[in-house]
Amino acid sequence: MDATSQRLLMCRPTYFAVDYAINPWMDPTAPVDPALAIRQWEQLRQTYLDLGHTVEEITPVPGLPDMVFAANGGTVIDGKAMAVQFRDPQRADEAPAYRAWFEDAGFEMYDPKHVNEGEGDVLLAGDHLLAGTGFRTAHASHAQLQEVFGYPVITMQLVDPRFYHLDTALTVLDERTVAYLPEAFSPGSQAVLRRLFPDAVHATMADAEVLGLNAVSDGRHVVLPAQATDLAAKLRDRGYETIGVDLSELRKAGGGPKCCTLRLRQGKASK
Ligand code: ARG
Repeated sequence: MDATSQRLLMCRPTYFAVDYAINPWMDPTAPVDPALAIRQWEQLRQTYLDLGHTVEEITPVPGLPDMVFAANGGTVIDGKAMAVQFRDPQRADEAPAYRAWFEDAGFEMYDPKHVNEGEGDVLLAGDHLLAGTGFRTAHASHAQLQEVFGYPVITMQLVDPRFYHLDTALTVLDERTVAYLPEAFSPGSQAVLRRLFPDAVHATMADAEVLGLNAVSDGRHVVLPAQATDLAAKLRDRGYETIGVDLSELRKAGGGPKCCTLRLRQGKASK
C-alpha cells in the first residue's frame, strides 16, 4: 500500500480545558491535566512528522478550549476551503480564527450557510464526500458542500450521541476503504455504507468507546488511539501499519487524533 505525504493543520492545546459540556464525553467537574494534554498532543504531532507529513500550526486563542480540535476548523479540498459554523455558541469564535488562517494561506474561501463543523463531519472517501448529520452539521449544509466541492455528497445519519461527529464513527483508510461502527448509523445509512464499501472494516463498540475510529490514515499507516487494540489488529490483518497514540486527556473533551488534525488538500494532484 502506498502512503501519501500529507499537509496537516494542528492547534496546540495551550488553552485546553473542559469548561462546558456539549457532548456526552465532557464532564466539567472531572479533573484534566493540561500539561499532559500538551505532551500527548506533541507526541501526535511528532508521529506525523516521523511519517513524513507536513504539520502547520494555527495560533491558539485564549478562551477557546476546544480550538485544539482543528478538524472542526474547516473542510479543505482541491485548494478550496469552506469555513465552519458551529452549533454551539461556546465554539463560535473558533470559526473566524480558522477562516483567517485559510485566507492567509491562500485558499479559495467559501462561507457556510448552515451549521457545518468541517472535517469532523465531512470526510472525503475516494470520489465521494461522506457528510454526517444528526447532532452537529445540518443536513441543509450537505447540498452546499456538493455545490462548492463538486463531489457527490452522501448523507450519513448519526444516531448515537457519543458518536456525534462522523469522524468518531468512521475512518477513511484509503481511496477504496473505510472502517466504521455500524450501530452509530441509521439503518438506511448502514445500507449505503455496505453498498459503497463492501470490504469495509467493522469496528466493535469497545473500539469506538475509546474513540478508536477517530484515526488518521495516509493510505498505509493508521494513527489511532492506543487503546483501540481490536481495531488495530484488524487493520494490521488488512496490511496497514498501525501507530497507537495516547490522547487520554483530549478524550475528556470527546476528541482523538483525527479531531486534532485537519487535512489541507491543495489541488487534484495531492488529493
Ligand atoms: N469538545 C469538542 C466538541 O464537542 C470536541 C470536538 C471533537 N472533534 C471532532 N472532530 N470530532 O465540539
